[in-house]
Amino acid sequence: MLIGSKFTPVNRSTILARDVIPMPDLEFPAVAAFIAETTGIEFKLNKKYLLENRLSPRLKELGCKTYKDYILYLKYDQTKKEFHKLTTAITINETSFLRNPPQLEAFQNIVLPKIIQAAKSRIPNTIKIWSAGCSSGEEPYSLGLLSMEKYPGLSTTKQLQILATDIDDEIIAKASKGHYGQLTLRNLSPHQLNTFFKNNGTQYEINQNIRSLVKFSNLNLSDSARMRLLRDIDVIFFRNVMIYFGTETRKKIISNMYDSLRPGGYLFLGHSESLHGISKAFKLTNLGKSMVYYKEL
Ligand SMILES: C[S@@+](CC[C@H](N)C(=O)[O-])C[C@H]1O[C@@H](n2cnc3c(N)ncnc32)[C@H](O)[C@@H]1O
Repeated sequence: MLIGSKFTPVNRSTILARDVIPMPDLEFPAVAAFIAETTGIEFKLNKKYLLENRLSPRLKELGCKTYKDYILYLKYDQTKKEFHKLTTAITINETSFLRNPPQLEAFQNIVLPKIIQAAKSRIPNTIKIWSAGCSSGEEPYSLGLLSMEKYPGLSTTKQLQILATDIDDEIIAKASKGHYGQLTLRNLSPHQLNTFFKNNGTQYEINQNIRSLVKFSNLNLSDSARMRLLRDIDVIFFRNVMIYFGTETRKKIISNMYDSLRPGGYLFLGHSESLHGISKAFKLTNLGKSMVYYKEL
């Protein structure tokens, strides 16, 4: 796990040397409660060092002497600017293209043909895929890439819409640019790289035809009112996000996602995540080498 600056791992001694503002154990519950209530993300006391490390720069910039002051500032900041900075500071954005290939094979070869077939009898025949917690865009662009690879005509028909949402404004801005270094592209074949990216020297830029399928926006999954606006979704990718939430938040989000999905729709979770103890509404189904949740017709 990354505990230094957002993208650079550092060890504990480096952190201490960097003049971190210590968080008294007594202040920790109020900080953790504010974060859990507003974002769903749960921090246990053993992760206090992580909050200290990530939030100290925020306190310093605002001139807050204590974490209590910082939480008060957040509560009274009507612009919500600091809340967005908080989310950027505390979220973990680790991701990559074609993450967990067996799941994506199931998506490309089983799920996509099924939902395209089902959409034929609908007017409009739009297909909606949602990457919830999309981070820097690798997941939604991978879904666009795999869809185009299987059905090249999708780029011109406007039938496919990929909605990509995250709580972190900074990461959404990065995703929208669609520029990537080699590390995150490691699972792509040379053919996929040549077909779907433009090489700008050190960076690869995702092609416009894939980019035009993906719409990025800020969405806090803890915000049930906004979640209710999402309807008729065919497939939800909600991978490697739920692990950061407490049980009650997981239940609320999964219940909202169930309502957002069409009957016959699919829910993909991260490979270490499950709905055990969260929801019995979905049917767990085996697709190729992957287990996927399904909303029955
Ligand atoms: C580890 S990344 C997962 C990225 C991608 N889904 C994948 O599996 O590669 C987790 C993402 O969830 C986002 N996230 C955390 N809490 C969230 C919330 N309450 N609402 C929306 N997104 C959230 C983070 O900002 C982060 O970008």
